[in-house]
Amino acid sequence: MTLDPLPDPVDRDVETTLRPRDLAEFVGQAKVREQLELVLHGALRRGSPPDHVLLSGPPGLGKTSLAMIIAAELGASLRITSGPALERAGDLAAMLSNLVEGDVLFIDEIHRMARPAEEMLYLAMEDFRVDVVVGKGPGATSIPLDIAPFTLVGATTRSGALTGPLRDRFGFTGHMEFYSADDLELIVRRSAAILAIDLRPDGAREIAGRSRGTPRIANRLLRRVRDYAEVRADGAVTRDVARDALAVYDVDELGLDRLDRAVLGALVRSFGGGPVGVSTLAVAVGEEPTTVEEVCEPYLVRVGMLARTPRGRVATAAAWLHLGLQPPPNAFGDPAQPPNTFGDPAKSPEAYGDRG
Ligand SMILES: Nc1ncnc2c1ncn2[C@@H]1O[C@H](COP(=O)(O)OP(=O)(O)O)[C@@H](O)[C@H]1O
Ligand SMILES: [Mg+2]
Repeated sequence: MTLDPLPDPVDRDVETTLRPRDLAEFVGQAKVREQLELVLHGALRRGSPPDHVLLSGPPGLGKTSLAMIIAAELGASLRITSGPALERAGDLAAMLSNLVEGDVLFIDEIHRMARPAEEMLYLAMEDFRVDVVVGKGPGATSIPLDIAPFTLVGATTRSGALTGPLRDRFGFTGHMEFYSADDLELIVRRSAAILAIDLRPDGAREIAGRSRGTPRIANRLLRRVRDYAEVRADGAVTRDVARDALAVYDVDELGLDRLDRAVLGALVRSFGGGPVGVSTLAVAVGEEPTTVEEVCEPYLVRVGMLARTPRGRVATAAAWLHLGLQPPPNAFGDPAQPPNTFGDPAKSPEAYGDRG
């Protein structure tokens, strides 16, 4: 299986059931949660729509869930669209002119919005107004149109790809972080309760540790382990059952999957540890550069196996060791430093020494 944090169709189904409904149910991200709570409650007190909110971070960390929660906390209705769906300014104009006062408009993957739509959005965000262009050529006129005051919630996996003017129009940006093993443990326990899975504490711990800091992956691993537990064991998800199941699915102790290991393997074996450009690396593993860049790399960087340098990608000493190879003397990073496993110091040496 792949540990792509983007949702597959089954994820989408199950996620509707598993999504936290309000801020209190939303586990982790203490910082973003506190900041958002202030933004929302401040607005509720004043009785006016809050500032526009940008949520940025890798896939699967809860951006869509938070957008829904924002609407729920405000008692507002949520209109959902996405950057790729807004190809022409007219697509956005239609969306905006249908808004009712106080609505929350969620634009997922906002960095992929077409330029003319984006320019229309500037004015809408600032003045709750759009200029609709009627006609073509010299006879074209622009008709100003008022729109109801609304709150825009944008989500992006690449905040660096947003233009400055768009970024500046958000009053608040929540930077989503990868989750700690403790938080992921709470999340899989909550999911197990909802899905009626017999998940034991040591099983929850094991799944959490291999979930790459990502709730979507934690929930997916939980479902795969449940299958294994039901078919090959007595249904209970214990630590041993989780380990055996995840071995079948090629998910290792650090949560690296086959593609992550292929990327590290190519970096180390074909390119002597780097530096190498991301497109060259992607060709070597037969993947799209964006997949390598947005799916594999954030986590490999997070666990200290890969570094992005101005000259290209570099494998750290920890990566060589993780692949069972001796790092060269000039390898990047300190080989004595075990990989980072999400703020759980007790777990790192064990996860490290445990590798097969
Ligand atoms: N903080 C959280 N607490 C509990 N579950 C979460 C949390 N964040 C995400 N999830 C789970 O992960 C799934 C994916 O989250 P989602 O909001 O779709 O991520 P994103 O939009 O960032 O890709 C959700 O359906 C939910 O089940
Ligand atoms: Mg999403």
